[in-house]
Order: sequence, then C-alpha cells, then structure tokens
Amino acid sequence: MIAQDLQERLHELKREKKAVILAHNYQIEEVQEAADYTGDSLELSRLAAELDAEVVVFCGVHFMAESAAILAPEKTVLLPEPSAGCPLADMVTPSALREFKQKYPQAKVVAYINSSAAVKAESDICVTSANAVKVVESLEAEEIIFVPDCNLAHYVSRQTGKKIIPWPGYCITHHRVFPEDVERARRAHPDALVMVHPECRPEVVEMADVVLGTGGMINFVRHTEARKIIVGTEMGMLYRLRQERPDIEYYLLSPGLICPNMKYTSLPVVVAALEKMEHRITVPEEIRTKAVRALQRMLEASA
Ligand code: 13P
Repeated sequence: MIAQDLQERLHELKREKKAVILAHNYQIEEVQEAADYTGDSLELSRLAAELDAEVVVFCGVHFMAESAAILAPEKTVLLPEPSAGCPLADMVTPSALREFKQKYPQAKVVAYINSSAAVKAESDICVTSANAVKVVESLEAEEIIFVPDCNLAHYVSRQTGKKIIPWPGYCITHHRVFPEDVERARRAHPDALVMVHPECRPEVVEMADVVLGTGGMINFVRHTEARKIIVGTEMGMLYRLRQERPDIEYYLLSPGLICPNMKYTSLPVVVAALEKMEHRITVPEEIRTKAVRALQRMLEASA
C-alpha cells in the first residue's frame, strides 16, 4: 500500500476500533505524523489512562505500553512491534531487586519508568526523566535505591542532595556519548547551546548547558532565544524539535544517538497492528495492583 492509502486505512481502523495512536518523541517521522498524540513517557502514560478510547496503540517500546496497560486495564493496549524492548529496563529483574533491597531495609525504592511491571511492583514509587527530581525531593526517606539507570540516579542525587544508592544500569544509546563528543560538537558549532538527556553520563551532563527529558526539551525550544542547539538525545527528537521551532538549527551531538528499538515501528506495522489487533500487552493482576500504586504515587507527586 502507498503512504496515502495506509493513512486512509489507519483512519478507518481507528474509527472502527475506537482506537487512539500514541507515539513517543523518538519514533520515526511517519509514525509521529500518523499519531493522535506524541509525547514523553510521562505525558503518554497520563494520556493512556485518561483518553476516551477502547484501544491504545502504543508506538514506543515495551515498558511504555506496559505502563499504559497497568494504568488502564480496561483498555486494549497494543504494541505494534513486539520486539521493541528497552535494554535499560532489562538490566534489573524483580528477584535481583528483592535481594538488593535486603541490604538496605530502610531505603525507599524508586523505579525509573524504564523498567518492567514486575520491577515497578517491587518499588515504592516511579519516576520519569520529567519528574524524577521533583518526585525524589518529595520523599521523606534518607536513603533511596534508584533503579535501573545509574546516570539518571547520579543526576537526581546532584539536584536533590539525597543519598541515592544507584543500580548499575544504563541506556545503551545515551551511555555511548562521551565528553570528547561534546568537545567535538562545540568546536564545530561554537555558538550553539548543548542540550542533553539526563540518561547521559555524568561527565557529559556536567558539560551541557541544558539537561532535560524529551518533554522538557520541547518546552525549552518553544521559549528559547537560542538559534542553534546541539541535541544530546535519540535522533527522533530532531524531527519533533523541528516541528516546534523550525527556525532553530539542530545538530545531533553524536551519530551514535539512535535507539534501534524505537525504529522498529513503521506506518505499515501500525496499520497491521490494528487490523490484527496485536500485539496485546497485559499484566497479571497480582503484579498490576502493586505496580499501579507506584505509578499512581508518581502521578500524584508530580501533579
Ligand atoms: P523521556 O521520558 O524523556 O521521553 O525519555 C524516555 C526514554 O526512554 C529516554 O531514553
């Protein structure tokens, strides 16, 4: 089918199935264009819960669709490409976390949204990159176990002054950026701002002018007077940022900033997902009831 036929077929299917298409900011252009909403992890999980739809097609990676299924069990949540996972989320398992918690019985457990439902179920509260500082600040605990991203854990401990016990996980895409990449990019574009995601290494975060999650980056460019920005996050953001502020010149901080999992979903894959109503993401009820507490606490603390 050609692109226009696919778009038309998608419209028909959406109407027929009462479906809504959500796409993360890292998705490829054609998917972002076809989506009803694009956003960061926090915005999309809120939307999944609040929108009046029977079916949510989540164009992103597994933990995102799973968060939607936790928050909206009455809706059918589809992940169009079942192999779209998150290596960071896979770096902590519930059994390893249970064992780790025994070493720090007083600590509260904060789970980054990039984690499985079973890990969320073992945690006190969730965070996303958009609210991690605010949520952690709101906790009364002296000690906090933060899973699974050690770079975000480091950033949050610097911002809040809280004692954070990090888990040794990292995003394979953001962790690939080194200080030399920042130096090289600054030499090439000396008058550009450097904006990075807090999943980058602490040395990279230290060198940046602006540190924000993807939703924060979009808000930032809406208001900035900067004319040139070096972008230190997954390359899909360039499309999203250009939509918001086409007058700004954007440069990707490093050519390695590509998340293969975010690129598996395409327009034909989204259409096929709705046609076949697959791949349905569900969470066993005994895990869901615990995981939903951690997500809801986050939504309340960051409201
Ligand atoms: P955001 O919540 O900032 O969109 O980040 C999601 C993510 O997975 C970053 O790698």
